[in-house]
This record gives sequence, C-alpha cells and structure tokens, in this order.
Amino acid sequence: MNLILMGPPGAGKGTQAQRLEKKFGIIQLSTGDMLRAAVASGSDLGKQAKEIMEAGGLVSDDLIIAMISSRIDEDDCKNGFILDGFPRTTPQAEALDVMLKDKGIQIDHVIEIEVDDDAMVARITGRYTCSGCGAGYHDEFQKPATEGVCDQCGGTEFTRRADDNAETVRSRLDAYHDQTAPILAYYKEKGNLKGVEGMAAIDDVTEQLNGIVG
Ligand code: AP5
Repeated sequence: MNLILMGPPGAGKGTQAQRLEKKFGIIQLSTGDMLRAAVASGSDLGKQAKEIMEAGGLVSDDLIIAMISSRIDEDDCKNGFILDGFPRTTPQAEALDVMLKDKGIQIDHVIEIEVDDDAMVARITGRYTCSGCGAGYHDEFQKPATEGVCDQCGGTEFTRRADDNAETVRSRLDAYHDQTAPILAYYKEKGNLKGVEGMAAIDDVTEQLNGIVG
C-alpha cells in the first residue's frame, strides 16, 4: 500500500503518517525530515537547503526528486510507504509518476487533509518533538501523559523546528497555495484523490484515514 498525504503546513500530515506507519506497517517518507537530517549532518544538500527552509521557501525540484527516488529503493519501503511533504510542485508530481512507472510501483490513495489556514499558525507554533524518538507533541492539542516525558520512549529532551515561527509559517502557507495546491487538481483528474476533515480532533482524523486505507 502506497499513499500520498497532502495538506498545508500544520494540517497533520506528520502526526497521521506516524499513526498509519504503526497501524499498517508502511513507512513514513517525510521530505522535510530528510532535509532536516541533511541540514543537521552538514552535507552539501543540507547546506543548500538550510536557508531556503528557514525562509519558508521550497528546495529545488531536482534535489528533492533524486533524494526521494533513492529513498524509495531502500528495503524498508517494500511493504509500502506514505509520502509526507512530497510531491509539492507540479514538476515533482510529474517526476513521481515517471519514477514509479520505472520502478513498477503504484500509488493507491492520494489523501488531502482539509484544514482552515487560520488555525495553522497556532498548530505550528505550539509543536515540539521528542529528541530521542521523534514523536510529535503540541503545547495544547497533543500533550504527553506526564508533562516533560515522552509517552513513547520516556525521553525528556524535546526540540522545536527552526522554521516553526509565525512569520515563516505564513511564507510556507503561501508556498503551499501557490505551488502545491495546484497538484490537487492533477490527482483529482487522475481519479485517486480523497479528502478527510482535518479540523476534527486528531483521533477523529485518524479514524477517517483508517476508513480509507483499511
Ligand atoms: P515539512 O517538514 O514537510 O513541513 P510542512 O509541509 O510545512 O508540514 P509540517 O511538518 O509543518 O506540518 P504537518 O502537516 O506534518 O503537521 P503536524 O502533523 O506536525 O517541510 C519543511 C520545509 O522543507 C518546507 O518548508 C520546504 O522548505 C522543505 N521541503 C520539504 N519537502 C519539500 C519538497 N517536496 N520540495 C521542496 N521543498 C521541500 O501537525 C502540526 C501540529 O499540530 C502538531 O503539534 C500536532 O500535534 C498538531 N495537530 C495535528 N493534527 C491536529 C488536529 N487534528 N487537531 C489539533 N492539533 C493537531
């Protein structure tokens, strides 16, 4: 089973991809996470991506397409994958079609998490992640059971993303509407686009997704 999760910054793609990964044994491929790892490692790709990401822009299509193509070839993708944050431009969507045809793979569902932009700033600025296992939390909407302790690994160190501030979120939302939202029409025309109500509570969104995927 191979999925694409679409939606603006803060829609819940990462939150829901982590849950789908656990329930269905398919791997989350987040281009944002891959780029952040490249930035942290100081690689050439990371150096090229850092400033663009901090300004809320999009990294070049060529770099992203090469990165995702080699990632899909890895063994842990054989059971299926969830594309989170890719494709993000029409050239990326077209390159994905060619790449998957070459690899003999197909996408089963493209799912848009539908949300109101106005609510996304609060979601993004309240987000934090466990430094140990990457589990995602929110100051208000998704607190750990014990304050300051990760539910999943017991870790007590957390990080916030460099691009999770109100100013950058607005640039990221603009980039989404200008360059990513047009892809929805592309998938609608192909007939495999579905939507879930992303303003519902996190567990309700998970149920909607399980209904489509399961
Ligand atoms: P990326 O890491 O992909 O960020 P994004 O698309 O901006 O998405 P986010 O991770 O911010 O949001 P999300 O939908 O995953 O929300 P989450 O589940 O965490 O990309 C970062 C940057 O990398 C880009 O700006 C770009 O520069 C570059 N990049 C990446 N891919 C690229 C590509 N393909 N091409 C070019 N450049 C690329 O939820 C947010 C918060 O809300 C969480 O705290 C969560 O707890 C909470 N929450 C989630 N759902 C709900 C709910 N239903 N109700 C209440 N709270 C909720």
